[in-house]
Amino acid sequence: MRILITGGCGFIGSNLVRYLLHHEPAAHVVNLDLLTYAGNASNLADLAGDSRYELVRADVADRDAVRELFRGRKFDSVLHLAAESHVDRSIHDSTPFIRTNVVGTQVLLDAAKEFGIRRFVQVSTDEVYGSLGPSGLFTETTPLCPSSPYSASKAAADLLVGAYHHTFGMPTLITRCSNNYGPYQFPEKLIPLFISNLLRGEQVPVYGDGLNVRDWIHVEDHCAGIVAVWRSGRPGEVYNLGGRCEKTNLALTHELIALAGRTFAAIRYVADRPGHDRRYAIDCSKAEQELGWTPKVDFSVGLRETFDWYRAHPAWVESIRNGEYRSYYERQYGGKTAANTSVSE
Ligand code: NAD
Ligand code: TYD
Repeated sequence: MRILITGGCGFIGSNLVRYLLHHEPAAHVVNLDLLTYAGNASNLADLAGDSRYELVRADVADRDAVRELFRGRKFDSVLHLAAESHVDRSIHDSTPFIRTNVVGTQVLLDAAKEFGIRRFVQVSTDEVYGSLGPSGLFTETTPLCPSSPYSASKAAADLLVGAYHHTFGMPTLITRCSNNYGPYQFPEKLIPLFISNLLRGEQVPVYGDGLNVRDWIHVEDHCAGIVAVWRSGRPGEVYNLGGRCEKTNLALTHELIALAGRTFAAIRYVADRPGHDRRYAIDCSKAEQELGWTPKVDFSVGLRETFDWYRAHPAWVESIRNGEYRSYYERQYGGKTAANTSVSE
């Protein structure tokens, strides 16, 4: 059974490729990835020489390249993860987000329609629902109300996926997951950024008052959820996936500071993200009831393991914290004035 995974060299994609090969003995995985700044072929270095795994470097929005790939293989399924994924970058420039997340999804849907597949899973995000007040949870029927260029591009892609099911009867499914953490996450997102700063003895930049809330899920639980939806989900349906683990950014930051053995002086409050969503929280009972899936990783255990993974892989982190990353970091954090300067430890 040949499965196309797009974005398999990124954080979730690389964990998913490994998870699928481990849990699905009949699977042969073709990984279509452009290897952008966020994609790292070495995330799957352990699969070198594995006859069940193949990396194809290509742009998901390149219609000719994608058709060529589909023509040459008989894919059973598509698990679509390739995306520009970082909200702050989408605020600086949304152009690649529209190209990859919207046009790329359209190109992939067209190829899947032309060549035929049994399942098409669109891996999406809870951010398409927008922001919650202090109470309530996102369900699959919550109206889409994206706030950032990133979430707007994912919502557009989700709508296209739904339209291809409705119009052409394509066997599509959509997952919408909350914030992931775990090994191989690019250190621009909160958890890996803060861990790598703390390990270097640097401060961590908390946006605004730090009281924004996110629901955290271990990447292994997300991968299990994607595979459960791929195996048993009903075509045309959306499945929310979440960790049932709401935290303010500040509470999470304090946990990371404790793991690092630092003090609260490691916090640098910086100007807030424009349009910053206040709270995300997921009701994942549909996936639990229909698919028998549930998040299993205890957050404090998963966070410690993640911290230890970054501490044990300094070369992986340092290989990223160079060139393009430095100029991004300078642009994102360099010019910000601290709203609250910290004392030295
Ligand atoms: P990531 O940024 O770590 O990886 C993205 C991957 O896509 C990289 O390997 C990159 O090289 C590849 N890519 C980018 N543009 C491409 C293009 N034009 N053609 C082919 N490949 C391209 O992202 P991630 O955090 O692993 O997220 C994966 C997916 O999961 C995304 O669709 C994202 O929206 C979704 N998601 C992420 C989270 C999260 O917390 N990270 C939560 C819910 C959903
Ligand atoms: P992030 O990891 O970028 O995920 P998302 O915006 O997709 O939820 O951010 C998680 C939360 O952490 C979000 O409320 C923004 C906040 N944040 C900071 O306070 N400082 C930072 O440097 C970053 C990257 C995020």
